Amino acid sequence: MAIVAPSLLAANFLKLEEECKMLNESEADWFHLDVMDGRFVPNISYGPMIIEFIRKTTTKVCDVHLMILEPGLYAEQFKNAGADNLSVHIEACPHLHRNLQQIRSLGMKAGVAINPHTPVSDLSDILHDTDVVCMMSVNPGFGGQHFIPHTIEKIRQLRKMIDERGLSTLIEIDGGVTEQNAAEIILAGAHVLVAGSTVFKSKDPKATIAALKAAR
Ligand code: DX5
Ligand code: ZN
Repeated sequence: MAIVAPSLLAANFLKLEEECKMLNESEADWFHLDVMDGRFVPNISYGPMIIEFIRKTTTKVCDVHLMILEPGLYAEQFKNAGADNLSVHIEACPHLHRNLQQIRSLGMKAGVAINPHTPVSDLSDILHDTDVVCMMSVNPGFGGQHFIPHTIEKIRQLRKMIDERGLSTLIEIDGGVTEQNAAEIILAGAHVLVAGSTVFKSKDPKATIAALKAAR
């Protein structure tokens, strides 16, 4: 079964409590929380204060995706806000190993997010220190974009690298995931499906989450 991580970016923030309740009643495994700084990506979303409120509504895993420069300056704040997983972008981190060490030492799972243009081979010397690879299948910054087809090949490459080394790193696919392409993504070797618009724009979000969960 896939791990399903709805992205709250597409939720109705005037009804945030109801949206969280819906996710809690669904088969969703993780809450995917997108933080954007208007610098690393050309958009601004929300930060630790909102995550602290969301944390109080759920016992599910809070998976925080930082699309920000200098994430190390904020890791502790996100831990205090209730993050379980913290992902930082490889493209934003000249001292990635240090960032991952810091995240783990704060008691969180360490994630590395990679943009569509970043080759899987760039993870070669950091993979054994990585709990989750958040592979972007759209350019980060916005929900509701189309899945970039080449991602499928990157998933295969990364899964091969993980399996050959006997690691338990999870592959998370973020952007443009739909009920239509979920099976292909899982078949290529992904473990986690992030889905924003597919879930929150659905007429029946819980059924959509169940369909993603069952994708194979
Ligand atoms: C994009 C974010 C995604 C986004 C996905 O920068 O990282 O998590 O919410 O949205 P959808 O599923 O609509 O592509
Ligand atoms: Zn994300």
